[in-house]
Amino acid sequence: MNLRKKTISPKLFTTKQAFPLQYSNGRLDACRNKCERNLKLDKNSVVVVLGGAQGISPELTAQLAAEYPCRYVLAGRSKQIEDVEGVYASLKTMIDIRKHLITVEKMKVPAEIEKKIQKIYKSNQIAQSIAKIEKTGATVSYRSVDVTNTDNFKAFLKSIRKEYGKIDGIIHAAGLLNDKFFVDKTWESFEKVYQTKVNPLHVIADEMKDDLKLLVLFSSISSSYGNKGQSDYAAANSVFDHTAALSSLNSDLRIVAFNWGPWKGAGMVSETLEAEFARRGVPLIPLKEGGAYFVNELKYGKDARIIVAGGREKVENFLKNLMQNGE
Ligand SMILES: NC(=O)c1ccc[n+]([C@@H]2O[C@H](COP(=O)([O-])OP(=O)(O)OC[C@H]3O[C@@H](n4cnc5c(N)ncnc54)[C@H](OP(=O)(O)O)[C@@H]3O)[C@@H](O)[C@H]2O)c1
Repeated sequence: MNLRKKTISPKLFTTKQAFPLQYSNGRLDACRNKCERNLKLDKNSVVVVLGGAQGISPELTAQLAAEYPCRYVLAGRSKQIEDVEGVYASLKTMIDIRKHLITVEKMKVPAEIEKKIQKIYKSNQIAQSIAKIEKTGATVSYRSVDVTNTDNFKAFLKSIRKEYGKIDGIIHAAGLLNDKFFVDKTWESFEKVYQTKVNPLHVIADEMKDDLKLLVLFSSISSSYGNKGQSDYAAANSVFDHTAALSSLNSDLRIVAFNWGPWKGAGMVSETLEAEFARRGVPLIPLKEGGAYFVNELKYGKDARIIVAGGREKVENFLKNLMQNGE
């Protein structure tokens, strides 16, 4: 069987799909009202978002919650620190935090200061993500868990089922980069990047119950096209792609891997990386627009693998030409 042919969504290149793209008024749009919703979640449904409190996920989860205001459990390694007086919450930037630690808390050791800056900054991000998603009317909580620790992650899933009674959906968006040429990688660093993605997948499979309707895997186009220094990352994402592809052939559970291109506005694409993409002419995915696409795909889509990259204009022009040529 040609797995690639069978599973990669060809929707951008045809108008005859179950989930068609409409082209009208010079805009390319996914069908909204006309299609039947494939994803059904009510207010009691439970969606777990691994890596949900930072990066691109809070925006994507907020947009999903606007459509499905159910119960969301966000997870990451970071811990929320106690901030009874709301002092830390008022510190908006890392510079503000550093100033506070040096002048108010009288911290002196640079390494300790840097460590605490990270902790406060991440904790503030978690609080902001919760607030952002809660605005939709959804119920949101956050838990700290390292998904590379099998026992802890197992216990995490069990505790959620115990507290909420079920897990309807899991969005696995936890990820890590440690780009280096293959020859310079150590086994430990390879494992860290690889297992952040793959270990929780194994645990989810081991702990699988009938309650699960949706498993979303945040993959990357680097699994298909490669990227300098990312052999570990590409290998892990490739496991996502093949899991989604194979599982979707015979299952009621929808497993879908999104092969994201690079995003703009949040997440792991640093300014340096962004400049490199610009140099190479690789367009980035805008947060709002990419989020809307993500939600539409989950609502109406059925595919197992979806490649999403920026450069809407390029795709629109491509389709326009295709249609004008009557193909
Ligand atoms: N942003 C992009 O351009 C892009 C492109 C292609 C694919 N993706 C994929 O999309 C996903 C999200 O990307 P992002 O840019 O939002 O990444 P990000 O900003 O680096 O966030 C990654 C998230 O994963 C969590 N995480 C990392 N290691 C973890 C562990 N061992 N246990 C639990 N949580 C862990 C982090 O929380 P803690 O630090 O608190 O653990 C954080 O919430 C990733 O899987 C990434 O591979 C992103």
